[in-house]
Amino acid sequence: MKELNLTRPDDWHLHLRDDVVLDSVLEATATDFSRAIVMPNLVPPVLTQKDAEQYRDRIKQSCQRLSGAAAEFEPLMTLYLTEATDANDLVSAHQAGVIQAVKLYPAGATTNSASGVQDIKKVYPVLEAMQKADVVLCMHGEVTDPEIDIFDREAVFIERVLTPIRKAFPELRIVLEHVTTADGVNYVQSQDRYQACTLTPHHLVINRNHMLVGGIRPHYYCLPILKRREHQEALVKAATSGDARIFLGTDSAPHVTHTKENACGCAGVFNALNTMSVLASVFEAANALDKLEAFTSLNGPAFYGLPVNSAKMTLRKQDEPVVFPQTLPCGDETLTVFDPGMPLHWHVAKSAH
Ligand code: NCD
Ligand code: ZN
Repeated sequence: MKELNLTRPDDWHLHLRDDVVLDSVLEATATDFSRAIVMPNLVPPVLTQKDAEQYRDRIKQSCQRLSGAAAEFEPLMTLYLTEATDANDLVSAHQAGVIQAVKLYPAGATTNSASGVQDIKKVYPVLEAMQKADVVLCMHGEVTDPEIDIFDREAVFIERVLTPIRKAFPELRIVLEHVTTADGVNYVQSQDRYQACTLTPHHLVINRNHMLVGGIRPHYYCLPILKRREHQEALVKAATSGDARIFLGTDSAPHVTHTKENACGCAGVFNALNTMSVLASVFEAANALDKLEAFTSLNGPAFYGLPVNSAKMTLRKQDEPVVFPQTLPCGDETLTVFDPGMPLHWHVAKSAH
């Protein structure tokens, strides 16, 4: 039997939603992760310090039902950036310790992004204030120009939006989230310590063929969309490189099953339950299990200027494939759990505060 001990991980990009979905999904994350950067794309979005405080309190309230380490889960809150964001409120939310980051959604780029930014220049004064107050900017890195093919939207975003922002605000700490292309990781690796990125477990194990060959698999549909295999390989190389600017953001994004198995299905993969198993498989296959801890537990806190967790986690490899539930109940509905399409042999054996 093989065992791997590591510092308990964090998730640097997570959707917890609210109400019944929050209550259904929180345990999966809180069982394996000490902290998570919680996305603000609720309906209506988390716009102000007050909204963030109230959402944080609802998450903490939901945590109280959990036991052991899970009950100690710490949500790291974010604000949803709009052209009407009040820089003073944002900076005060950060200084009060209510938020860790601000999220940029280009309007229309993804789920619940309608209130996002249309004209990036309009938020430059807010970015200026964020640079000064050292608030991290998380970005959904895709342009929404209908002329640009969906598979090219990340690369074009880097050229048209990110590069000018980096030039104008060289000391603004930026996380390019859920990077899906070689262009994305190459860009980040060519930059300085102010530029980081997150990678999801699903973009490391599947590519667009898995989603589209032999039938369309709606549970693999997410944004940014899965790319070709060469990009997947570049992401694995980056994740397993140990580079301090690259860390885990699961982008676990629950949508009830019928809204995904639909003529117009929602984007998002619900992977919180088996992320650590999937990652251990990916890192083992790349002969890089020694780099897993940096990716899941060390690089993220270093970038965000937060302490590394003192708690540990043990991953264990077994001969028989580990069985995860295919769905979780969610009120009267279900949430379909990410199926990586391969047997998983690693499981979380122990995790404690
Ligand atoms: C996310 C969601 O459902 O909120 N969906 C997704 O496909 N990743 C939004 C996002 O992160 O783009
Ligand atoms: Zn997301």
